[in-house]
This record gives sequence, C-alpha cells and structure tokens, in this order.
Amino acid sequence: MYSSSLHQQVNALLKKNKIAISGADNEFYVRIIANAAPIHNLYHEIYEHHPKAKEAFSQLIDGIIKAYINRSATLKQKDKDKPADWFLSNQITGMSLYVDRFCGSLKNMEQKLDHFNRLGVNLLHLLPVFESPAGESDGGYAVSDFRKVDARFGTLDDLISLQQKMNAEGIYLMQDIVLNHTSRQHEWALKAKQGDAKYQDYFYIYSDSSIPDEFDRHMPEIFPESSPGNFTYIPECGKWVMTVFHHYQWDLNYTNPAVFIEMLDNVFFYANIGVDVLRIDAPAFIWKQMGTSCQNLPKAHTLLRLIKQCVQVASPGMAILGEAIVGPTEIMKYFGTGEYKAHECDFAYNATQMALQWDMLATGDTRVMLNAQHELLQKPLGATWITYTRCHDDIGLGYDDDTIRAAGFNAYEHRKYLKEYYIGNTPGSPAKGALFSSNPKTGDARISGSLASLCGLEKALADKDILGIDLAIRRILLMQAHSFFLGGVPMLFYGDELGYCNDYSYLSDPGKSYDNRWMHRPIIDWEKNKKIDIPGTVEHKIFTATQKLIALRKKLKMVADYKNITWLPAYNIHVAGYVRELKGEVLYGIFNFSHQPAYLTWFAFKGLGKIPAILYDHYTEDEYPVGLDNEYLILEPYGFHLLEPRS
Ligand code: GLC
Repeated sequence: MYSSSLHQQVNALLKKNKIAISGADNEFYVRIIANAAPIHNLYHEIYEHHPKAKEAFSQLIDGIIKAYINRSATLKQKDKDKPADWFLSNQITGMSLYVDRFCGSLKNMEQKLDHFNRLGVNLLHLLPVFESPAGESDGGYAVSDFRKVDARFGTLDDLISLQQKMNAEGIYLMQDIVLNHTSRQHEWALKAKQGDAKYQDYFYIYSDSSIPDEFDRHMPEIFPESSPGNFTYIPECGKWVMTVFHHYQWDLNYTNPAVFIEMLDNVFFYANIGVDVLRIDAPAFIWKQMGTSCQNLPKAHTLLRLIKQCVQVASPGMAILGEAIVGPTEIMKYFGTGEYKAHECDFAYNATQMALQWDMLATGDTRVMLNAQHELLQKPLGATWITYTRCHDDIGLGYDDDTIRAAGFNAYEHRKYLKEYYIGNTPGSPAKGALFSSNPKTGDARISGSLASLCGLEKALADKDILGIDLAIRRILLMQAHSFFLGGVPMLFYGDELGYCNDYSYLSDPGKSYDNRWMHRPIIDWEKNKKIDIPGTVEHKIFTATQKLIALRKKLKMVADYKNITWLPAYNIHVAGYVRELKGEVLYGIFNFSHQPAYLTWFAFKGLGKIPAILYDHYTEDEYPVGLDNEYLILEPYGFHLLEPRS
C-alpha cells in the first residue's frame, strides 16, 4: 500500500545521493518507489520491535541507493538487456567447480574458458573464493572476509578480470554468499571473543549452556560425526556460541538488523562484481527460534523475500538461488508463496529429483520417483530449478517416507538398501561410495562419491572389466541426460564431464580428512584431460557425449522451463519418461534405469491427441516408426532416447 511518509523518506535519501530521478536514473527511481512498500513491510515483519529498527531502515534504503550508484555502466546495461525470465531459457548450462582444484587460480581460469566453450557450458559456479582459514574452511564456506579473495585463488582484481573475460565470451557467473555464518576467524567473531558486546550481538552467544541445551533439544545435527551438537564453547570469553555446521562456523544473528544490513551490503558487493546468479548458501537455517528445528522457519522466507526485493531494485539482472536442500513440500516455499509466489528465490536445487535419480539407478524402479512428482510439479511458473546428478555436497535421501511407502516399500529398509548399494555392499553393486555424516542416534546417513565412482567406473577400471566400463559410461550418461532435459538449468559438477573417479588424496590432508565429501572433489589433471581428444578413451566417450547432450539442449526450445513437463505413467516400471511441450513442439525423454533391456509400449506416445508416424531420436539420430499398442520400443540397458514426433 502507498505511504506518503515512506515516499518522502525514500525521496530524501535519493536527493541526498544526487539521483537523477527524472533523468538518467529514472528507471531506478521507478523501481525503488514501486518496491519501497514491500521492502518496508517485509523489513517491519522482522524488525518492527527492535530499538534500532528506524535507523537501520534508513541505512537499508541508503545501501540500496549506494549499490545502484556503484554499479558499473556495463552491468546496468546488462540488467536492461536481460529479459526478466532469462534464466528459464534452454540456452544455459552450468558447471560448479573449485578454482584451485580445477586449475590452480583465478588467473589460470582465464586460460581454461575454451574448455567450457567447447563443452557448451556458459554459467560457472565458482565455489567460494573469499578468504577462509586454511584447515578450517569447509571448502570456503567458513568465510573470514566476505570481500577479500583468498590468496590461494588470487586477488579481487583477478576475479573481476575473469568476470569481464567471461562476460565477453557470454559466460555467466554464479557465486555464493554464505549468509548463515562466518568463520570463527572473521573480524566480527574475533571482536566478539574479546568481549565486544556489539559483536557478540552479531551471533547467538550465551553466558552458560542452559539456553543452548534448550535449543539443542529440538535441533537436528548437521555434521554429527565431525561436529556434534549445535553450540561450541568459546574459551576466550567463557561463553557458548551457536555453530550449527562445523564448530568453527558461527551462526549469524539476523534478529539484529545491523547483521542484515551488513550482509545485504555484501550481497550488493557481489552483485557489482558482476555475479549473474547469487547462490544463497544454507538459507533454510538463517532464522532461529527456540523450541523448533531452526530450519525453514517463516521468517527465513521473509528475509529471503526482503533480499530479493532489494536486489530487484539495485541490481535487477542478478538472479537468486536459494540453496535449501529440503524435502519437496518445504522446497516449494523458497519460490515464494501467496503474493510472493515466484518472487522469493528464482532458483532452487531440485535435490529431491537428484536423489530420486540415484534411487532409480540403484533399484531399477521408477515408482518412488513418480510418487514425488505431484509435489515437484507445484513449482511456480517464472522460477526454475538447478537440475543435477550431484554437486560438491553429499547426496541426501531426504524425500518423504510417503513417496517410498506409496510404491509399496518400507521406507527404512528402502533407504538402507540405497546406502548399502552405493557403498558397494549389495550383491552386484558396481558403486564405490562412502557414507557421510552417519548418525547412530537416528540411523541417518548421506552418500559421498563421484558420479563416475557411484556409477561403477572406478571398480570397472580397477578390474579391467570392459563390459563394466561400458555399463558405467551408460549409467553416467543416463543420469546426465535425465537431468539435462527435465526443465531448469543443468549444473554439471567439474570432472564429471570426463568421468573423474573418487580422489582419495584428501585423506592425507588434516584439514579435509574428517570430511569424506572431498573424495568427490577431484584435483584436475590436465594431462589426463588431453584424452578428450583421443577417440576410444573413457574421457573422449564421456566428454563428447556430454557435449552432444548440451548442444541438443540448446537446440530443443521445448526444454526451456515453462512449466511444460508431463510425466508418463509407469507403463514399464524401469522406464522413466517425460514429455516436454512448448508452442506445439514436443520432446519425449525416455530413460531405462534397468540393467536389462526394457520394453515400452508404443501406446506411451499416443497420449497427445495426434498419433505420430515416426519418432526421431535427437541423440542417436535414428528414426523409429511408431508401432501398434502391443508392440514396443526396446531400450538398451541404461539406454535413453530423446524423441521428437514427426508425421
Ligand atoms: C552448504 C554448502 C556446504 C557447506 C554448508 C555450510 O550446504 O553447500 O558445502 O558445508 O552449506 O556452509
């Protein structure tokens, strides 16, 4: 609702900052006036009763204006040129990587852009490059300076220069903001340790363990093996601090508006480096309330909405990805609800589908996956998924028990089977993974291991098993193809484009050996990568096939994400099938998750009214005449087809 006092307050700050409201800055002026009321309301939902609420609100508006002023002309032009729904396009394919493990440094990255261009990747997620203490960095997710690039990667100038080079080549940049916590070595934490009350209020710090104990009664543990509990004693000041993740990651206190203002400023700092997609790390955890699990709370959503609104005003070309790895019902809320539907996070990870792909691969059965779709299809138009087979984190099996039960399985036994399968403990399992964060109290565990190792390549190579190698490659490509065409931006994990197996070197590094996620974070060997050019090698096979899949995705417009996916019923329980339809163009993605050939009735392709005469497979470039309903398309073990109906 319009408020003249708010308008006046905003106008005064615009004037103070010399914004040309009816001249060059008119579009910005329109944006800030249009969004002022929602920003004000969202802010007040959280901070209304805080004694410093008024003063901090003025800082918030001033911060938005300053962020706009500091935005370069190039980025302002890019904001204008990007269509509002640029990220729904089928033209974008991403890759997530650790700069140091990929090629040493940010400077070296400039020389590696050809690798991405050749593969077809045009969105790079650089895993955190800001300063974090060696030995307790959590892969860069324990940040000690949000604005200083860690010396092991290079400098801020190197990052800016890389961004400019990427921009010139049409490659988008994705970066994290680690919003939930800082490293215990961050300046704020250091001051808090010294007893500075202002900075103690930046964290959840308590004089004795009674409140922590009360919180702990309702909070699950994230890393029960390496960092049990949710609080850590600080000997320097004799107090307790909330540390939901590792003991060296201190949770920020967003009930304090000063924390929000500082972190929003960091959001803008990244926006003005030229970040196209801002990955908000661990947003499910940013609001805490005693007596709850302290995850997915309504106010966490309010904070995200507030960030989104502010970003829309100052840097509208930057999309927001909420890294919430939660079940299907909860994940939908990160896209926004009610009047904020499709106005909270632009992206979320389709972690449920990712895990369900692994479920299908281990069981050869698609029914649990299909049971989750009625929830996943609720994603609003205008927001999209990151689709992936794995990322730098573990694979959690956090989908609802009901989806498992509805397929006729016992949820506990089913998950137990999956875990055993991926650590190679079930008869016939080719996988070589490990359990991550096993919690003996709850029986929960997640899975570590590279795509290739979980798909059997490591074992087959060690056994010199030619057939096993071929099957592993098929599994890898099946997993990639299934996620590439689902809708959403595919995000490859570096090394997977060449079939990198587990890297066990982490075991000899004390800063990493306690965290087996490092087994699937390989150090890239550029000598090995030369095999991409040698036909017949595993690297060549996987790279060229991945390249082809990416090129096809860019060619097939109907795979853009416009809420245009329909799942085929389980005509054959081993075969997952979806139809992508846009403006009369149709694509069937058909995937056999079984180790045996599968038969799919031609009836599966007759549901759209017009019965096709021929199905053209974009992947194999073969044509299939559509047969009678009692005849079949025969899929090879772990085979897949990308079929376009033709008359
Ligand atoms: C996110 C990151 C993960 C990290 C955690 C804590 O989930 O992806 O790697 O350990 O946040 O920052």
